[in-house]
Amino acid sequence: MRKVKDFYYKKAKKNKYPARSVYKLEEALNKHKFIRRGDSVLDLGCCPGSWSLYASEVVGEKGIVVGVDIQEVEASPRSGGSEIIWLRHNIMKPEMIVEVRKIRPAFRVLISDLAPRTTGNRWADHQQSMILVRQTLALASELLLPKGNYYCKAFQGEDYPEFVKEAGELFDKVKTVKPKSSRVESREVFVLGMGFRGK
Ligand SMILES: C[S@@+](CC[C@H](N)C(=O)[O-])C[C@H]1O[C@@H](n2cnc3c(N)ncnc32)[C@H](O)[C@@H]1O
Repeated sequence: MRKVKDFYYKKAKKNKYPARSVYKLEEALNKHKFIRRGDSVLDLGCCPGSWSLYASEVVGEKGIVVGVDIQEVEASPRSGGSEIIWLRHNIMKPEMIVEVRKIRPAFRVLISDLAPRTTGNRWADHQQSMILVRQTLALASELLLPKGNYYCKAFQGEDYPEFVKEAGELFDKVKTVKPKSSRVESREVFVLGMGFRGK
């Protein structure tokens, strides 16, 4: 397992991304094409910035990425990529949506790599993750454009099937994705929702 971690860590370093997690987005995107050129992307839990940087390259100069995190992001956008606007906010607070809407009323894609502070207690970590992912679904309902897409990290556990069912009510197609760069022993998976049905 260490070998896998080292491979993606080194690859991220070589390609100047601040985190190896960029490959959990890249792999899924190569296969499922849920972000396209010119798209507007909302990236929740964006620090230290790898997903936002990668998404900005995919959408290009005509697109836009808005990244939100409780922590300050220090990454610099790359040439050829879209504008990236970083917002320092807690996604659980209602003010966040107000601030995001000041930039853009709605987005074509919502991505989330939000992670709670893990405690090592599987049940507690799963429950914290479920609070975050349910909030991302609520935000998707408010902020996604019709036919928009959603890609969100979750820690599996007893409530996970119910969460997938809830996502299934909002999107035409929903599936669970486990990229190779996500460690096999980790309970982390990604829920992909394609085709937002609208409010
Ligand atoms: C795994 S990191 C994201 C890595 C990022 N996708 C990248 O590629 O650089 C998870 C992030 O979720 C953020 N986070 C957790 N809870 C949050 C909340 N309630 N509001 C905003 N951000 C939160 C953390 O601060 C952390 O930076």
